[in-house]
Amino acid sequence: MSNKNVQVTLASRPTGWVQESNFKIVETEIPKPGASQVLVKNLYLSLDPYMRGRMNAGPSYAASVEIGQVMVGRTVGEVVESNDPALKPGDSVAGYLGWQLYASANAKELQKVDPKLVPLTAYLGAVGMPGLTAWWGLLDIGAPKAGETVVVSAAAGAVGSIVGQIAKIKGCRAVGIAGGKAKCDLVVDQFGFDACVDYKGGNLARDLRAAAPKGIDIYFENVGGEVLETVVMQLNPFARIPLCGLISQYNEPHPHGLDRLVMLLGNRVKLQGFIISDYAARNAQPTAELAQWVRDGKIRYRETIANGIESAPRALIGLLKGENIGKQLVKLF
Ligand SMILES: NC(=O)c1ccc[n+]([C@@H]2O[C@H](COP(=O)([O-])OP(=O)(O)OC[C@H]3O[C@@H](n4cnc5c(N)ncnc54)[C@H](OP(=O)(O)O)[C@@H]3O)[C@@H](O)[C@H]2O)c1
Repeated sequence: MSNKNVQVTLASRPTGWVQESNFKIVETEIPKPGASQVLVKNLYLSLDPYMRGRMNAGPSYAASVEIGQVMVGRTVGEVVESNDPALKPGDSVAGYLGWQLYASANAKELQKVDPKLVPLTAYLGAVGMPGLTAWWGLLDIGAPKAGETVVVSAAAGAVGSIVGQIAKIKGCRAVGIAGGKAKCDLVVDQFGFDACVDYKGGNLARDLRAAAPKGIDIYFENVGGEVLETVVMQLNPFARIPLCGLISQYNEPHPHGLDRLVMLLGNRVKLQGFIISDYAARNAQPTAELAQWVRDGKIRYRETIANGIESAPRALIGLLKGENIGKQLVKLF
């Protein structure tokens, strides 16, 4: 074991786009686990769009990271020391242990995971928080019926790629929206969507109408802004919008909203925001189902993996700019 911990802390709050200078890399002692705690060697760190919000001060559904604090983040890793009989050295765990190589945590705050069932990294992606977000948002809020058309934005990303594949499993037409031809090809060829529209291609409204000729019954919203405003013009009566994320607005000092609300009124559309942590107590069955779909090859996933903890700030900026394909991870060792 290397004899130092390395952490990434928040050095300053960004105004607008995140900069690498908003982070600081620091070396500290490896923490000693206390009573009922374990020491975890983090092997992979998940980078997620919500981290941008945590860098801000001010009210939100979750607490801000304070200046000087370790950045929040979910990791998968290996128990190296244990003071709790529930976990033993060598066990694989997932938890919110932050941007750091080692962390001590209460055993009961960690999720024991089985890397023989699906690869360890899948617990940060298709079988972890993003997969569960897709599962709950689509099935609980979207309530798809076979034959309906489901459109999802950020379709080549961690959540969006799973949404379309679950829509297919449920017998729906799955249409993705993503940035660029390469991502759209991947969405269709690898993730099995029926169609994918490039929102950077110049005519989203026309291309979406061609890809969803019977109109849109469910719009799984990940991006907001102009994409949302185009999609709402093509919703069917009684359409549903699981409002999962608005990534196009996260770096905007003055986020703007939905200017076409009247379309939701006329079509009696249901729009519901949701935060995945609300479902935490009910995740056992969806986690098992996602793992089974991955094992059966019904759900496929892609990962973009940055190397080394020092690369995490740059990789987060890349994620917010759309440089990732599938789940953005950082390999820590
Ligand atoms: N509600 C919840 O509990 C919850 C949980 C997890 C995630 N989320 C939300 O779900 C969304 C997707 O998260 P993820 O982890 O799966 O990330 P992701 O899709 O893997 O990565 C983000 C993607 O967003 C797209 N994007 C960035 N800027 C954009 C813009 N201006 N316009 C359109 N698309 C843009 C990029 O893809 P392109 O290259 O295609 O533009 C980028 O690859 C985010 O909004 C996130 O905040 C919500």
